Amino acid sequence: MTGPVLVFDSGVGGLSVVSAMRRRFPDMALAYACDNAMLPYGVREDAWLVERIPAVCQAAVEASGCSALVVACNTASTLALEVLRRRLDVPVVGTVPAIKPAARLSRSRHFGLLATRATVSRPYTLALIREFAGDCVVTRVAADALVGQAEGLLAGDPLDGEVIHDSLAPLWEDSDLDTVVMGCTHFPLLHDALVEASPRRVAWIDSGDAIARRVAQVVPDHPVHQGPGRSFVTLADARITSGLASFGFARPTLLSFS
Ligand code: DGL
Repeated sequence: MTGPVLVFDSGVGGLSVVSAMRRRFPDMALAYACDNAMLPYGVREDAWLVERIPAVCQAAVEASGCSALVVACNTASTLALEVLRRRLDVPVVGTVPAIKPAARLSRSRHFGLLATRATVSRPYTLALIREFAGDCVVTRVAADALVGQAEGLLAGDPLDGEVIHDSLAPLWEDSDLDTVVMGCTHFPLLHDALVEASPRRVAWIDSGDAIARRVAQVVPDHPVHQGPGRSFVTLADARITSGLASFGFARPTLLSFS
């Protein structure tokens, strides 16, 4: 396996996973693909997503010649992992909310799940909660507006404090909640702003490092990067180009697929 590891998301959220992978494996060759033409995924119909995601991923896998695909999107993974694994010839690593680590960490047995509207109500997510956090209260909060905040931040826009405050508000209704799962890969990009907007100290956790460790199992002799990684988009857009460049990716190529 010689091609890069391809990281896929609807938009820039997967760059938080890129950061986690680089922290663990600084020399790993990475490529990035996003379906920015159809962002955000969190408010779209499942039946549409389950057709769209494999089509985009297949085109990106072929164009990048990757050795493995990381679906760095909880909204996509909680719905389409099985179909992706069936359709693609490369190993596929998914991203699902860090429910199990949160259940291990929470002392009060009450934690929050901050994710897209789709992810907080998916059967896959509910099954994870039943299996790993059966003795916990889990406050599920749909925070789709934060996806736009993260996209804007990477394009150089200022954050909107009111949007962040309102998105987090349901987490603070009970004073015993002590941990928050960032179940959308866009949210770690906002980590400092989320901490700043919190009325009290809680632990913020995400799946980035667990994904990096899983990639190392799937691609034990990982390809080493030589120069900037390639990137792929579904819509040419200067704003996303600058976000990708700030994470060291080359100017994106427009994906073509049917
Ligand atoms: N970054 C994606 C996730 O982890 C979702 C963003 C979107 O709604 O497109 O769920």
